[in-house]
Amino acid sequence: MKQELIEVKEKALIELSKINDRNALEEFRIKYLGKKGLITLYSKRIGELPPNERPEAGRICNQVKKEISSLFKEKKEEIEAQEKAKRFEIDVTLPGRAIPRGHLHPITQTIKDICDIFTRMGYTIVKGPNVELDYYNFEALNIPKDHPARDMQDTFYISKNVVLRTHTSPIQIRVMEKQQPPVQIIAPGKVYRHDSDISHTPMFHQVEGLLVDKGVSFADLKGTLTAFVHEMFGKGTELRFRPSFFPFTEPSAEVDIRCVICGGEGCRTCGGTGWLEILGSGMVDPEVFGFVDYDPERYTGFAFGMGVERIAMLRYQINDIHLFFRNEVMFLKQF
Ligand code: DAH
Repeated sequence: MKQELIEVKEKALIELSKINDRNALEEFRIKYLGKKGLITLYSKRIGELPPNERPEAGRICNQVKKEISSLFKEKKEEIEAQEKAKRFEIDVTLPGRAIPRGHLHPITQTIKDICDIFTRMGYTIVKGPNVELDYYNFEALNIPKDHPARDMQDTFYISKNVVLRTHTSPIQIRVMEKQQPPVQIIAPGKVYRHDSDISHTPMFHQVEGLLVDKGVSFADLKGTLTAFVHEMFGKGTELRFRPSFFPFTEPSAEVDIRCVICGGEGCRTCGGTGWLEILGSGMVDPEVFGFVDYDPERYTGFAFGMGVERIAMLRYQINDIHLFFRNEVMFLKQF
């Protein structure tokens, strides 16, 4: 037995020296030092020996166990130290991890681009309230109560005289109330209409423009909006002014651009006409000047209003307005 124990010890120490991870070390412990391990088995067998051999066998068994245990402990500490070192290993030569960068929503981006074009032409950006008095949203824009033009704008009423603004045009009145000409402003913002289907959302965005001064003519309106269209959609973009009606402008015109999808051939997007409407405009109606105490004999002006979603859809070739408001990163990431 003495010889056997010494052989076991030698085998154990060779095995132990080859171990370099936690799992193998645990297997080693079970094999030699565990409850059913080899050393334990030998110590149990001591009782079966003739009484005179027992003391020496016991002594050797203990000594072998002690030696293996102590080397086991050393090995354990060594492995733990290695693992710890590995955990704190830093490779300072690795490139840094880039912080993901967000960007502006395509609508915000489009508003910014529209405003940039006009500020370069000398316009100042102003804002107005989203919850608006009936007076500014309709009355002072020459849309009296019971006027059929109100039907076109499905209005959210807060109370009898308070609405969610249906367009950005009320900002024209608020600005003119506060200052005398010259006026040259651009007013971006949210507008609300009780309208929701595949091509409408109850909230959308508009940018309003207003210029009032001495001697402003329809030619100035045409020149300004032509410059805008060329900046926004490219120099070669064809546009046309189509007679229209708005209660607060006279004469009024809608501006169409050549269909960006089919180039004028006629397609689904342009309804086969080859043209796409992008904004409403006109010369400020003298009636409106009456509400803000501007002298229509001294001053003339033009105004325009455009739908931001529509412009963004044309510029990015997006066919569903709802995509702007679903907050799907997969969609938004593209812009
Ligand atoms: N406010 C009009 C709308 O929402 C758009 C508009 C048309 C604005 C003509 C104007 C304008 O300033 O002159 O439908």
